[in-house]
Order: sequence, then C-alpha cells, then structure tokens
Amino acid sequence: MKFFLDTADLGEIAEAASWGVLAGVTTNPSLYARIGGKLSDFETHVRRICDLVDGPVSAESTATGRADIVAQGRALAALSPQVVVKVPVTVEGLAATRALADEGVRVNMTLCFSVPQAILAARSGARYVSPFVGRFDDIAEDGASQLGDIVEALGNYDLSSCGVAHETIEVIAASVRNAGHVTQAALLGADIATVPFKVLKACVAHPLTDRGLDAFDKDWKKVTNA
Ligand code: G3P
Repeated sequence: MKFFLDTADLGEIAEAASWGVLAGVTTNPSLYARIGGKLSDFETHVRRICDLVDGPVSAESTATGRADIVAQGRALAALSPQVVVKVPVTVEGLAATRALADEGVRVNMTLCFSVPQAILAARSGARYVSPFVGRFDDIAEDGASQLGDIVEALGNYDLSSCGVAHETIEVIAASVRNAGHVTQAALLGADIATVPFKVLKACVAHPLTDRGLDAFDKDWKKVTNA
C-alpha cells in the first residue's frame, strides 16, 4: 500500500516528502480553504505541491455540469503531468470522467460510498477511486467494511479495458482519521491510503518504540561510560 498525504499544506507536504515514504498528495476544496487559500493562487499552489512531491497530485474540480468539469479538468491537468483531476461520483462526474479519460487525463473519482459507485467509476475510465472511510464511521456505519467490499468487488473483474490512459483503477482509502484506519486499509488490500499529516505521524509512533529507544540509550551510556 502506498501513502498519499491528504492536505494542501505545503509545509506538511515538504516534511512528509523528506521522510522518503510519500507517493502522492490529495487535496480538496475544504483542505485548500483550511490553509486560507485564495482562488487567484490556486493554480500556483497546485504547481508548488507538484514541485514538492514525486507522484500524483489530486486537484478537485468544483464544477457540477459535465462540460464545465471537463473544461476545469483540462485546465488542472495542464498545470503539471502529475495532476490527477478529482471528480465526484455523480452522473455528470461519470460523463466528464469518461471524456477526460478518453483524452488521457487521469481522474480520481471522489466521494465514493458504495460498491456500485466504485464499479461505475472504474467503468468511466477513472484512474483512482476514493472510498471515504471516516465519513461512514461518522454516521455510525462501518467505513472499513465498505472499503473492503469495494476492494473485493473491483478485484472480481478485469477492468483494464475501461480506461484509455492506464491499465486499471487503484483504490484510495480516503477520509482516514487514525492509524487504525490505515491498518484496516492495508489488510483490506487498498492500493493507497491518503492520510492527514497527523495520521502519518501517528503511523510512525509507537510507545514501545519510544520505550525501547529509551532503554537502548540508557544502556549505551553504561557502555560508553565504562
Ligand atoms: O480525501 C478526502 C478526505 O479529505 C476527506 O476527509 O476527514 O474530511 O472526511 P474527511
């Protein structure tokens, strides 16, 4: 499973990239708003993210009609070969994704909450599909179980003929809220987990690692002081 960072914060992206484990970045309108982003800076900001990470960078279309999604998608894709256009799973989004995929633009279909939505995303030529785990948990349903169903259902088929620009679709576990979600995503066979920076940090940390380091440090001092 690959790790993407789910943020628009350049500092977080630079820091995570320096760890050598980052395979991509996903953003959405809320994440850009959270860092105080301005519309006039958006394209420059996406380019900066692409400069920081060696991998795909999802930038979301905010249009609702297919023609507008396609136009926005083309403009976003023109910013960098790294850009993947994020499009919601709606009727308009599916039609736009098919048009973009036929032009060779990679699409990440977002706001996916069901197996039928995920299969339709694959059939529309999407390069990625993003089931939202945490938002299911928010409504007292089991997000991991939904993710597992989607991974299993997509795995039942050879979807390589669906897209033009790629071989098959990858599942991005999104709306990941904690390291437990990351464990579940990996066990369920998600291709990618896109995680907030605080979750990435939580994935590194373990109290027994800290305790072990402390013990090694104390014992090594005995050696060096002997
Ligand atoms: O990638 C989508 C993700 O950002 C949504 O996360 O925490 O807003 O549900 P959240």
